[in-house]
Amino acid sequence: MIIAIDGPAAAGKGTLSRKIAETYGFHHLDTGLTYRAAAKALIDAGLPLDDEAVAGKMAREVELSGLDRDILSSHAIGEAASKIAVMPSVRRALVEAQRDFSRREPGTVLDGRDIGTVVCPDAGVKLYVTASPEVRARRRYDEILLRGGTADYEAVFADVKKRDERDMGRADSPLKPAEDAHLLDTSEMGIEAAFQAAKAIIDAALNGK
Ligand code: DC
Repeated sequence: MIIAIDGPAAAGKGTLSRKIAETYGFHHLDTGLTYRAAAKALIDAGLPLDDEAVAGKMAREVELSGLDRDILSSHAIGEAASKIAVMPSVRRALVEAQRDFSRREPGTVLDGRDIGTVVCPDAGVKLYVTASPEVRARRRYDEILLRGGTADYEAVFADVKKRDERDMGRADSPLKPAEDAHLLDTSEMGIEAAFQAAKAIIDAALNGK
């Protein structure tokens, strides 16, 4: 059983995916971390972010077992990841690793941008989790303050919009809902309500309905 969860940045996919994986005892892969790991490796090595051959080689060296959310969570790494994610050779390498992961037993939850459309088009359940750009920017802003950081709401909002444009506008595997995805708009929902809505959809699929 594969559960594919896609959606834009800061829609709440991560929290939801972890909760779902825990509930069903499935393995979880945040595929954004694979793009982030390749981007960080380039930055650390002082290599350019706009050389596809170099970025593709880095992407082939990413180890799924070494992905650490804390080390990869910075804004700069997210931006760099979004830039190299437009490159077909980077995507080819990472998608292959993600597909291998998706076959683990007893089941997997993968979250990202193109899981239901490209990585696992045969997934048993596809969710497209979204929220308005204003709500996503507000959540991201609150999260930064909660961690003791400082932020400017307008700047965070502009950033969310820029990331959406890049992720939805690229030629290779743009972010969009799969035709058979269940849409989950969490603009007006807390995490528990979003989880319950997702759980109802997954339980129906598991029971063959
Ligand atoms: O979800 P995130 O912020 O960790 O993702 C970082 C970037 O990686 C995102 O802006 C686009 C890219 N990405 C992608 O292209 N495809 C995925 N399946 C996951 C992430």
